[in-house]
Amino acid sequence: MILSIESSCDDSSIAITNIETKELIYHKKISQEAEHSVYGGVVPELAARLHIEALPKILEECKSYFKDLKAIAVTNAPGLSVTLTEGVMMAKALAITLNLPLIAVNHLKGHIYSLFIQKDELLPCTVLLVSGGHTQIIEVEDLENMKIVGQTSDDSFGESFDKVSKMLGLGYPGGPVVQEKALKGNNEAYDFPIPLRQSPAIEFSYSGLKNAVRVAILKEEENGKLDEQTIANICASFQKTAVDHILMKLKKYFKLLPPKKVAIVGGASANIYLRENILKLSKEFNSELILAPLEFCSDNAAMIGRVAIEQYKSNDFVSFKDIDVKARLKEF
Ligand code: KG4
Ligand code: ZN
Repeated sequence: MILSIESSCDDSSIAITNIETKELIYHKKISQEAEHSVYGGVVPELAARLHIEALPKILEECKSYFKDLKAIAVTNAPGLSVTLTEGVMMAKALAITLNLPLIAVNHLKGHIYSLFIQKDELLPCTVLLVSGGHTQIIEVEDLENMKIVGQTSDDSFGESFDKVSKMLGLGYPGGPVVQEKALKGNNEAYDFPIPLRQSPAIEFSYSGLKNAVRVAILKEEENGKLDEQTIANICASFQKTAVDHILMKLKKYFKLLPPKKVAIVGGASANIYLRENILKLSKEFNSELILAPLEFCSDNAAMIGRVAIEQYKSNDFVSFKDIDVKARLKEF
């Protein structure tokens, strides 16, 4: 079995996965959403402090599996340096104490392999990764061959939901609450401009849309009209525009290179409006849509364990002296 640790942002999580059967033997995650919500976003130092409390608590429950472990895996990039460090320190300590090899896992590969938890890989596949930090289209051949073919030049899809939520005083994370409010709103109430509509580039941008929403909120506030229904209308119109932007760019890309399989991963792939519309788009292009179960869309250690199985089988280990933490990664 492999014990895997995830602490790249605001979720402390540990999983235990069977290497041969890929079965998820144990999985637990403690989220810090409530603690960060008052600040309208993740506060890195607070997140690190909360990992220090949560990770050992979860580890305590895994002790009975220690004798069966063959390796320790941990997310080392990308993410918040101070929170990644907490997971990596725990992984190093475990590897040294239990005399086990260490596996360093790329968090984004983890999101991609969330599609294959307790399953074999279904590759190659065109993947849309939408999270709090990333909006990317990735051509995935296998674990070692992943190519980013389009990404955002500023904010990410998930982040734009967080910012709209913050502007409306709805707390963090913004995705679920904005999606909820949008259900009661009219998505045509505001005519927000779809970003990069005329540009042929396979590229995303959310800063302009965020600004358009900010201006609309200020205007409604000035007129004393920022009531429940107006908030719902803003959320619905914003969500539609944010998703339409992705759909337009994906359609452009699929016309150039029709995909056999399409997948959506990352925390924001839980968005129902996005899922429904990508399903329609994939049908239009006769491609199969693969989705991860909702519980594995946001950050978790099960996906890190799933990648670690592949790395274990190809002897992709790192020495505890060499493992480093990287906040950003340009390539896979
Ligand atoms: O993958 P994830 O858990 O963490 C990162 O690696 O960033 O993604 C978290 C992001 C947050 O920005 C959150 O607001 C967004 O995913 N998110 C959503 C939804 N659920 C979570 N965005 C839109 N709609 C949702 N239903
Ligand atoms: Zn993530």
